[in-house]
Amino acid sequence: GKTIIVTGSASGIGLETARVCTAMGATVLGIDLTKRFDHVEEFYRADLSDGATIDALIDALPTGIDGIANIAGLPPTAPADKVLAVNLFGLKHLTLGLLPKLNDGASIVNLASLAGFGWADAIPAIRASEGVHVDDAARFAAEHQITNAGGRSYFFSKEALIAWTMQNRWTWRDRGIRMNTVSPGPVDTPILGDFLETLGARAEEDARIMDRPGTPADLGPIIAFLLSDMTTWIRGTNIPADGGMSSNILCDMH
Ligand code: NAI
Repeated sequence: GKTIIVTGSASGIGLETARVCTAMGATVLGIDLTKRFDHVEEFYRADLSDGATIDALIDALPTGIDGIANIAGLPPTAPADKVLAVNLFGLKHLTLGLLPKLNDGASIVNLASLAGFGWADAIPAIRASEGVHVDDAARFAAEHQITNAGGRSYFFSKEALIAWTMQNRWTWRDRGIRMNTVSPGPVDTPILGDFLETLGARAEEDARIMDRPGTPADLGPIIAFLLSDMTTWIRGTNIPADGGMSSNILCDMH
């Protein structure tokens, strides 16, 4: 079986992904700020917004990793610099730090969002975010005026994550390592209320249009599929799983 790292394994989509991967015979190494040992072989408690903690975690994790599901994330009810640190800069720091411990053919899956759909409109700020260290998230947020107003910190974190994933479509091609994003629409987890509270009219409009919100069970199998050897030709792209919301936005534009 494969060895799969799942961040955010203590709740919501991450917990369900750990459950599905374990059920499929993988050895799951879970990482979260909240201690929870369900559906994981080993659990590592870590704050993924802190550079030194991530460095220690990278050292502690074993070699021979076949997949990383970067699922831990914060809604924009958390401070803007924390949102950027966990959802973007910390995710990149962990992923890049783990590269030497990945097996050839490893698959990396990053949880983005329908909120990242507008990435093409944010290219200057995305370029400026390249190479920013996780411990410099607050400075970056201040310099680029990325605040929680309208949920901007969250939108930006997911826009930049989709762009980073696409940019790295060939980076580790020699080792067969590939990376993709999955972008859910609203999913019924403990943070759904936080989104409705902070993303304003757009979130309410989404909720009105959808027949139902997603559930973790809608996402876990998709993430597991992308981590599997059935998808080795899916590389550097974004897979929406949103009950039709992203195509609804595209159709509205025409
Ligand atoms: P959740 O709140 O149930 O799970 C997120 C997990 O991340 C929690 O267990 C939390 O402890 C962990 N986490 C937060 N900050 C951390 C830190 N500093 N260090 C380590 N772990 C930390 O939320 P959910 O909904 O399962 O979210 C998972 C991912 O899906 C997130 O990246 C989120 O942005 C994304 N997403 C969620 C949507 C939704 O409507 N629920 C929609 C689109 C994307």
